Amino acid sequence: MITYNEQQKSFLLTGKGYSYAFFINQMNTLQHLHYGAPIFPSDMSHLYKIGSGDTQTPNPENFNRNLSFDYTPSEFGFYARGDYREPSAVIARKDGGQMSCFTYVSHEIFDGAPQLKGMPHARKGDKTLAVTVRDECTPVEITLFYTVSEDSTVLVRNASYKNVGDEPVQLKRAFSFCFDLPGGYEYKRMCLGGAWAFERQPSVVPVSHGVTRLQSIRGNSSHQTNPFIGILKEDCNEDSGECYSVALCYSGSYVLATDWAFNQRLRIHGGVSDFNFSWQLEKGEEFITPQAFLNYSANGLGELSRGYADFMRDYVIVPRFVRAPRPIVVNNWEATYFDFNNEKLFPIIDAAAELGVDTFVLDDGWFGKRDDDKSGLGDWFVNEKKLEGGLKTVINRCKEKGLKFGLWFEPEMISEDSDLYRAHPDYAIKMEGVTPVRSRNQLVLDFTRQEVVDHVYNVISKVLRENDISYVKWDMNRSITEMYTPSLPAERQGEFQHRFILGVFNLAERLTGDFPHIFFEGCAGGGGRFDAGMLYYFAQFWTSDDTDAYERTKIQWGTSFIAPLSTMSCHVSACPNHQTGRITPISSRAAIASLGPTGYELDLSILSEEEKEAVKQQIIDYKQVSELILNGDLYRHRTTLDGGEYFFVTVVSKDKSQAYAVGLRTHGSPCDFDHYVQIKGLDPDKIYHIPELDITASGKSLAGYGVLLRRMPDFGGWTWHINQVK
Ligand code: DGJ
Repeated sequence: MITYNEQQKSFLLTGKGYSYAFFINQMNTLQHLHYGAPIFPSDMSHLYKIGSGDTQTPNPENFNRNLSFDYTPSEFGFYARGDYREPSAVIARKDGGQMSCFTYVSHEIFDGAPQLKGMPHARKGDKTLAVTVRDECTPVEITLFYTVSEDSTVLVRNASYKNVGDEPVQLKRAFSFCFDLPGGYEYKRMCLGGAWAFERQPSVVPVSHGVTRLQSIRGNSSHQTNPFIGILKEDCNEDSGECYSVALCYSGSYVLATDWAFNQRLRIHGGVSDFNFSWQLEKGEEFITPQAFLNYSANGLGELSRGYADFMRDYVIVPRFVRAPRPIVVNNWEATYFDFNNEKLFPIIDAAAELGVDTFVLDDGWFGKRDDDKSGLGDWFVNEKKLEGGLKTVINRCKEKGLKFGLWFEPEMISEDSDLYRAHPDYAIKMEGVTPVRSRNQLVLDFTRQEVVDHVYNVISKVLRENDISYVKWDMNRSITEMYTPSLPAERQGEFQHRFILGVFNLAERLTGDFPHIFFEGCAGGGGRFDAGMLYYFAQFWTSDDTDAYERTKIQWGTSFIAPLSTMSCHVSACPNHQTGRITPISSRAAIASLGPTGYELDLSILSEEEKEAVKQQIIDYKQVSELILNGDLYRHRTTLDGGEYFFVTVVSKDKSQAYAVGLRTHGSPCDFDHYVQIKGLDPDKIYHIPELDITASGKSLAGYGVLLRRMPDFGGWTWHINQVK
């Protein structure tokens, strides 16, 4: 619900479990009032009095009265006009002046949600407020968008910048959103950081005074820092306390900044990275910023995450796939790496069919001249020397065995040793006189240029059209260096990073749109670009190249702060694990891999008979819980992060009649007879049966007293199927 109070000139927005409020003050600037627990419209007069009280309001007679805006927080930070915290926008005019002050022009409230052209976005929403402000110092109007939905905890924000004057202006910073939290609390900041093979490890630190930035300037949202920020009040934990988060619906370089002034107000804002950023706005042109998904819970991080999971499923992820049963795949990457031919692939396909797998995915190495990572990228035609008879032979083998076929691409990349590079060396990102950084021995295509995107679209769509392909794995294995394109003049080079990712979105939009029957999985050297932007196009994402069961407990735990289980692609791989060398039982690997769309990343043809039987049973078992994995609510109980001894989570059906609990024990301890785990999320008044433990108990008892963990070997895993009996 969105209401405007004419008398107070105030806006009150209310969604599921939260309210958000601001008003137009005497200075005609937008002043933030509240974000957090739901408030009644009648509370607004109280808030309004605080916000517009004499002692705190900027004095219209004396605009420059120092510090005024420190106490009357701007709804969107401006610069060098009395708002002394970092601005949310910096706009340079022709004479070089960069000060700003945003004053109210108009607003409208409309049904539905804005549909952002060329960028991922929330596909729907109940109501949207669009408030337009005008910069007093440049001819720029900024429209701030706020979309609320009654059944969602997420408030969707973005901003569009329009040049309404005659002269061009340059945006130097153009953030999507800004909000302010009151002082008097010790806030903590949560981020999901890591690196290749250990993505999205949550860390919580006190918010420090001054400005802190979570950012990526790598051209992609990165393994290192996910475009997510959590702001936790001092007493917040998994199950109680107030917390906020922002997830950007964006996959390029970004920033999420906090600015904590010594008067204790906390500003949180961000969007497209402003590092080496500029955007030239000609007369009449508009710059649309990516959406930010703001989330709030009064009841801890668990509820916050479930709010995001529901929102991603209902509002963001491609609707035709979001709730569709996922293919159970076998992928040949760790089975063969680049070294394969039909003789090696066919036994994997045959074994997959025998064991109940339904899709075979042919990974890197099937195209061009590609026997290692030094060549071939960009040549999206089959290497018949390797695959005699071409793709069709492999596809036919799959079909004969009743399997579907999936194929790997890395659309944004080019090898110098490729036909594409020999024909179009200019397609690669490079800068004259500078030796390019050859990360993974490859270069990145200049996706700021439409003709390059069009070329990639043409060659990939040809393969997709000419072959019976039901699944595509879209990989991306390096960050961008030499951020420069000869296609833009010197003064527009600051547009490079955003234009690059717009090119990626353009290709994703066209390929997924033109081949609606194909299921696309995203991947970025593992989970390097696992963000809401990608989830708009790809219903699932390869969570990490690290498939070790223990490491995955941490990675999947962290990922669950931003996305539902249905998006986290999880495979059982060989032991010793290729990333860590660790040996874990196949049952534990399968238990952890069952917490997402599952599959296998090993040579199924060389498994022992015992392992084959295990895999057969795992697939049968998985099918029983796949509905819960797609649609259930996740409750996090125990983490292995920070050296914890157990990982334990439960997925509960929306009607609370069923649940699926999965755990992994890292190492045994002498007091194993005394370890209980509590099962949260069940209906306290319902009676449940857990066949694996032969326990029948109420939800209340399972949550309160819990369940005794029996002794088990190091890295032993378990799965419990919890069913309502009364
Ligand atoms: C990185 C991916 O994460 C792997 O699964 C595999 O597809 C390789 N790239 C192939 O190069």
